[in-house]
Amino acid sequence: MKWTLATITLSNAMSIVVAVNVHHSSITSPRGDRLPDFSFAGYHSSNIDLPSINSPPSSTLSPTSGDQTARIQAALDSLSDAGGGALLLTEGKYELDSNITIPIGTVLRGSGPSQTFLLAKSAAVDLITLGGQVATPRVTPLTNITDCYVPIGASTFGVADASKLSVGQSVMVQRAVTDSWVTAMGMDDLVRDGKKQTWIAAGKLVRQPRTIMAIVGNSINIDIPLTDTVDSQYMRGVVATYTPPSASSESGIENLAITLNPSCSGRVLSDTTCTASAVAVRSWTTDSWIRNLNLTGFNFFVTIHSNAARITIDRVSMIRDQDSNVASGLPEDIVIEGTQVLVSNCSSYGTPGARAFPVVTGSLVPGPNAVLNHYTEVPSNFIAPHQRWAHGFLVENSRTSLKLYNRGTLGTGQGWTINAGVAWNVVGQDILVESPPMGVNWCAGCIGTDSIGGNGSFFSTDRTVLPESLFWTQLSARGVGRSST
Ligand SMILES: *[C@@H]1O[C@H](CO)[C@@H](O)[C@H](O)[C@H]1NC(C)=O
Ligand SMILES: *[C@@H]1O[C@H](CO)[C@@H](O)[C@H](O)[C@H]1NC(C)=O
Ligand SMILES: *[C@@H]1O[C@H](CO)[C@@H](O)[C@H](O)[C@H]1NC(C)=O
Ligand SMILES: *[C@@H]1O[C@H](CO)[C@@H](O)[C@H](O)[C@H]1NC(C)=O
Ligand SMILES: *[C@@H]1O[C@H](CO)[C@@H](O)[C@H](O)[C@H]1NC(C)=O
Repeated sequence: MKWTLATITLSNAMSIVVAVNVHHSSITSPRGDRLPDFSFAGYHSSNIDLPSINSPPSSTLSPTSGDQTARIQAALDSLSDAGGGALLLTEGKYELDSNITIPIGTVLRGSGPSQTFLLAKSAAVDLITLGGQVATPRVTPLTNITDCYVPIGASTFGVADASKLSVGQSVMVQRAVTDSWVTAMGMDDLVRDGKKQTWIAAGKLVRQPRTIMAIVGNSINIDIPLTDTVDSQYMRGVVATYTPPSASSESGIENLAITLNPSCSGRVLSDTTCTASAVAVRSWTTDSWIRNLNLTGFNFFVTIHSNAARITIDRVSMIRDQDSNVASGLPEDIVIEGTQVLVSNCSSYGTPGARAFPVVTGSLVPGPNAVLNHYTEVPSNFIAPHQRWAHGFLVENSRTSLKLYNRGTLGTGQGWTINAGVAWNVVGQDILVESPPMGVNWCAGCIGTDSIGGNGSFFSTDRTVLPESLFWTQLSARGVGRSST
């Protein structure tokens, strides 16, 4: 085996210079589960760069006194009507008394996070939303999956009748949760305060949105390898079709700071004036981005709603300027409910008692979703899928505590939170990676400075591994000629 050196700098300025070679393509579980291909996360599946932040703006606003919401909204709307473009807010402070939607094809751009400041008064509703509201499409089951076991990482499997499908079609690879699976997962007997908790109700659908790339006989090939399994012993896999709604795309927010005053940092979660996000991406919005922002004083910073896809969040700093009030639970910095979300180069800052989850996934959230180069300042804050079987989640080259685990009766029975989770070169105070009974989570090159544990699938717990980045290695392995620098 070839050994090469890599360096990770710890917060105490110590460096660990060690490395182990890992052939990512050969990491396979006894059942044939392989690492998901995370390189499909991000704007246009990371096949192309984000549009230039230096492109000439299509229109420009300078600050005036008083509420700027209507002015900015009108400028964005007329840009969108005219075919799109970037609205540049020149240096200065912009008061926002209300919320803004960034419509299709438009970009809200500042002159830099230390030049352009949006001053918000309330977080009762999401302050800035990318994309408009659309109707949820109907999903129609067409044919059953016939393989006994479809592993994580599979992109080809058999169906009963492929004549019902066509190349290029949008499909959900889906399965209904069964009681036998919930029991096999050890999730049927959760009790909290004397009351039975339901992890996931039978009948709920575990869905993976994909596109059919090829059909050969009754075997179909999909664009993105699966991030969850279909095990015929416990469930029936189905291929269902849907027409994605014509939703917003190609919108962005970049290069500015948003400050909430009065601050929501330190407020209890039940305070409804503080439950919304600084920036949100609406359901079904695609190919959009959030980059180079400094966000201060929110209890929730960025939320990607369900079925939003191919979203990049890059270089966003989130700052909690007061200790958290943990009486009703912890707030969350970045919430992923969508899919193919790439979070890169983001940082969570806070006072020593500013407790929060830096990145979470919600219930049944389909992968691949990826977090690269994350920095969490408060060592006790850990990145963690939050509840109920999200699948396909990578955290790599990050300095953060991390837990891929069973939350048991926490919340209302959040239970096993994640399948096909991968921690890759993560250094943090506490690292816990457990594998569910019917799944697998991996940990390669994880270093826990205080603790490391769990029965996940571990490769190297005292040194970093090569390749340094799983994401960029997978991207180049599928022939995309982009690099991290
Ligand atoms: C502001 O928020 C409300 C409540 O969520 C929403 O109905 C409305 O569409 C939003 N307006 C804009 C311009 O985003
Ligand atoms: C953003 O906030 C962080 C944390 O407070 C700070 O270190 C950084 O300088 C800020 N960036 C800009 C461009 O203001
Ligand atoms: C899948 O198989 C079951 C049992 O044979 C059948 O009832 C169901 O209709 C099939 N589903 C589809 C979409 O063909
Ligand atoms: C890992 O440990 C948990 C209990 O902490 C157990 O439920 C689970 O089955 C174990 N995973 C595997 C793959 O054995
Ligand atoms: C993260 O930042 C580095 C350095 O600025 C940049 O090269 C890289 O493209 C960023 N990552 C992503 C995925 O945008």
